[in-house]
Amino acid sequence: MHTGELLGSGRTADVFAIDDRWVLRQYRDGGDAAPEAAVMSYLADHGYPVPRLRRPTAHGDTAVARTRLEMQRLTGPSMVTALEQGAITPEAAGAMLADLLRRLHAIPARLSADPADRLLHLDLHPENVMLMPDGPVVIDWSTADEGRPGLDWAMSALILAEVAVAPVAVAEGARIGLTSLLRHADPGVRLGDAGSGHLARARTRRAADPHLTESEVRLLGDAVALVHEVEASIRR
Ligand SMILES: Nc1ncnc2c1ncn2[C@@H]1O[C@H](COP(=O)(O)OP(=O)(O)O)[C@@H](O)[C@H]1O
Ligand SMILES: [Mg+2]
Repeated sequence: MHTGELLGSGRTADVFAIDDRWVLRQYRDGGDAAPEAAVMSYLADHGYPVPRLRRPTAHGDTAVARTRLEMQRLTGPSMVTALEQGAITPEAAGAMLADLLRRLHAIPARLSADPADRLLHLDLHPENVMLMPDGPVVIDWSTADEGRPGLDWAMSALILAEVAVAPVAVAEGARIGLTSLLRHADPGVRLGDAGSGHLARARTRRAADPHLTESEVRLLGDAVALVHEVEASIRR
């Protein structure tokens, strides 16, 4: 039931147009979309900008139906496209990611009883933010989990750093975005601090990500070093 045009394809899912208002997101690997639907409904109830779900839960009882979510069609552009087109600066993008993380972590955790835990996105980077006229909307909640906010900051920082150390044209922009992200982080957020261990945990998670290419994994050490360096330069 691929109802329409393929709008986007990330590393885990394909997104098809249903009509002008709705899209169908479908996991390619047969993953269960129900936990993601629960997270998105909870966040929408707390006023966080996520695509509206057409139905509150993943529906249908077949294995294929469970891999699907129907949600609001976001016309975008994505933050990546806006950066490529020069519609926003890397500095503004980093500040916007920081604001989205801060707002997410202001919401109480949905499941955890530990008062220090929050809902974490764990893959909040420019491909997963759609810029709408009334503000950014965060997509792709497949990696969401609960835990300490520092891990979410570390994941976003590391993903930007991976681009910044890669031999790509947008490396310099990614470095500026990373610097802006960390400059706009709460003063209590410490990623490279040996005590917090957030950056080390983020590295472990990225290294275990089956969607990372070999060359991306090889650059992880350089990316971690860059996050340390940028964080130290800001806190100096
Ligand atoms: N609600 C939506 N409206 C329009 N396009 C979307 C929507 N959700 C996702 N997309 C597009 O599909 C792509 C893949 O979706 P995403 O949820 O990020 O899956 P993945 O886990 O594969 O990255 C996105 O980068 C975006 O271009
Ligand atoms: Mg994505």
